[in-house]
Amino acid sequence: MNERDSRYDILFEPVKIGPVTAKNRFYQVPHCTGLGWLRPRMLAALRGVKAEGGWGVVCTEYCSIHPTSDDLPFPSASLWDDTDIKANTLMTEKVHEHGALAGAELWIGGARAANLLTREVSMDVDSMPNHAGNPYQTRAMDKADIRALRRWHREAALRAKTAGFDIVYVYATHHYMLSHFLSPETNSRTDEYGGCLENRVRLIRELIEDTKDAVGHACAVAVRFSADDGGGEDGVPVHGERRDMFEMLAELPDLWDINIADYSYEMGVSRFVKEGALEPYMDFVKSVTSKPVVTVGRFTSPDSMVDQVRRGIVDFIGAARPSIADPFLPKKIEEGRLEDIRECIGCNVCYSGDGKGVPILCTQNPTVGEEWRRGWHPERIETRGSEAKVLIVGAGPAGLEAARVLGERGYAVVLAEAGRALGGRVTAESRLPGLSEWARVRDYRVQQIGRMTNVEVYRESKLAADDVLAVAADHVAIATGATWRRDGFGRFHPAGIADLTPEERIFTPDDILAGRLPEGRVVVFDDDHYYMGAVVAERIRAEGAPVTLVTPEDKVGAWSTYTGEQMRTQRRLLELGVEIVTAHGLSAFDGREAVLACAYTGRERRIAADSVVMVTARRPNDGLYRAVSECMAVGVEGAPGSVRRIGDCEAPAIIAAAVYSGHRYARELDMPESDRSRVPHDRVFDETP
Ligand SMILES: Cc1cc2nc3c(=O)[nH]c(=O)nc-3n(C[C@H](O)[C@H](O)[C@H](O)COP(=O)(O)O)c2cc1C
Ligand code: SF4
Repeated sequence: MNERDSRYDILFEPVKIGPVTAKNRFYQVPHCTGLGWLRPRMLAALRGVKAEGGWGVVCTEYCSIHPTSDDLPFPSASLWDDTDIKANTLMTEKVHEHGALAGAELWIGGARAANLLTREVSMDVDSMPNHAGNPYQTRAMDKADIRALRRWHREAALRAKTAGFDIVYVYATHHYMLSHFLSPETNSRTDEYGGCLENRVRLIRELIEDTKDAVGHACAVAVRFSADDGGGEDGVPVHGERRDMFEMLAELPDLWDINIADYSYEMGVSRFVKEGALEPYMDFVKSVTSKPVVTVGRFTSPDSMVDQVRRGIVDFIGAARPSIADPFLPKKIEEGRLEDIRECIGCNVCYSGDGKGVPILCTQNPTVGEEWRRGWHPERIETRGSEAKVLIVGAGPAGLEAARVLGERGYAVVLAEAGRALGGRVTAESRLPGLSEWARVRDYRVQQIGRMTNVEVYRESKLAADDVLAVAADHVAIATGATWRRDGFGRFHPAGIADLTPEERIFTPDDILAGRLPEGRVVVFDDDHYYMGAVVAERIRAEGAPVTLVTPEDKVGAWSTYTGEQMRTQRRLLELGVEIVTAHGLSAFDGREAVLACAYTGRERRIAADSVVMVTARRPNDGLYRAVSECMAVGVEGAPGSVRRIGDCEAPAIIAAAVYSGHRYARELDMPESDRSRVPHDRVFDETP
């Protein structure tokens, strides 16, 4: 084993938090998983793996204290009554097994909670519209409601202690109820909970005191709090009253977990926000309190982490996404294996499940969420099930991941790539504006494969079916990706667009990725609704061309709402001078004009255009798969025992799906079919009436 670099020793110092001590400075801040109270064993296994990977503190997601804070269809954790204790204990036991502390982020939803499961009336500082877009308003809390809320919070804290949590949060940020009490904009009360600063801070102060009184002898009390009031330019905080609030509360909790008002910046995608971006917002906090401080910043570099601690910005390195992409990040630093770190790429695909109420995914870590269900460990894998030789055709994200995992399992692997560069679409797309960090998907895998003597990599090796047979592999995985369609086929035009000429003026993202850019007035038709339409428009606009982005949706990149980047994407395009036409599809183009049809009425309008870029759908490059399958079907000599298509070649999708596909193929090779198709429900029956 390598030695840890002594520069990083400071990261492994224990830190006292009130009555408990964290074994090191690595702190997994609260983050959702889409598992919550619905899937407790999947959740416990996920958190347990993080503790095993060296995180000194591992927190829950937002954990509802009472049925009046019900976020269905998004499954938070919950501590509503004693029947919830068992599920939470599953998690704390897993976390404790590895010497880590477990934290519970007690959550009061307020106007965010529509209570669609419990049908309770939701409450907040005032009667305000539901923040999740549901046609409900909250009840303005009276004094009896506030007293009840304090009791529920206290009871939830006691249950958290019984469940084995070491840290209990007062969660006063992220636009949930407590932040509404703090803000002069939302708090218009005239009683002792509204008006002057002291009054607006009162409920948070009371909850901190209540929690300390209830569990403070055994558990640390943490407060999650915003360092700014929001509203400024990126990187230029508007602190407003925040510093005064801190000064009033500074010594009350045992730990401050600091974030900021703009969630799209706090957990911004790498297109817009880089590592360590919160520092200008919160660098004053440690000068105001003697209590330990944690903040976030998509930290993956141990040097940045050490720098933050040494300069006295933080005591703990907080992480959500870096801990998802690599649950073993602390262990790898500890063991001097920096090259093994699987760095988060800042794509926020992990966050997309939050808006959909479904289990978490990660582009870099295909095992997340599968620790219990499929028994996948991010760092350990079964050794090979046979002496088989495996050929993988295509070194994009699916092919690279399959080669890495098969190599790890000990198979003899041949990886053939048609081009000179490895990485496929990841390499190509990482050259688009803002996406450079996406190359980490390739770099991690190429680095790992490079150390494996049982994986041979052949570049510039475009294989036909005969070549595949000549390799004499027992198994073949075809990972040849997909090609963007030029014919307009997609959601808006299930049969394509009939009137599209001249051919040389019709472009696709593949042309842009290959450096073949359109000229003149360009229409980008985005019927894909994620990032590609917008980044392609940005790339072309950077050359000075007038660009119009046309989408049948009501906003640009509608799906990117789930990754928290939609607002920033549309703002960026508007600032760059890209014209945006929403709720329209492209219905014809003749080299001079584009005909656009209203998505609601079908009414047509014409705009001048010299070229169009079709961002609509992709066609799998599965010709080689079909040819090899045919050889197998007719029994050609030398045909492999099995052929599978993986990644975009099977079904074009997001990069996370391609990595998952490659990973799954490699995990399941030589596994009986009955085990492969098993996807058990995490269904826990509760005997309470
Ligand atoms: C998938 C996901 C879910 C999150 N859920 C929560 C949550 O339940 N409670 C919370 O306080 N913050 C939540 N966050 C925000 C994180 O705690 C953190 O502030 C943010 O991700 C920035 O940290 P990072 O750069 O280390 O990811 C979530 C973040 C992610 C990525
Ligand atoms: S999905 Fe993307 S942003 Fe989220 S942890 Fe994984 S790599 Fe990072």
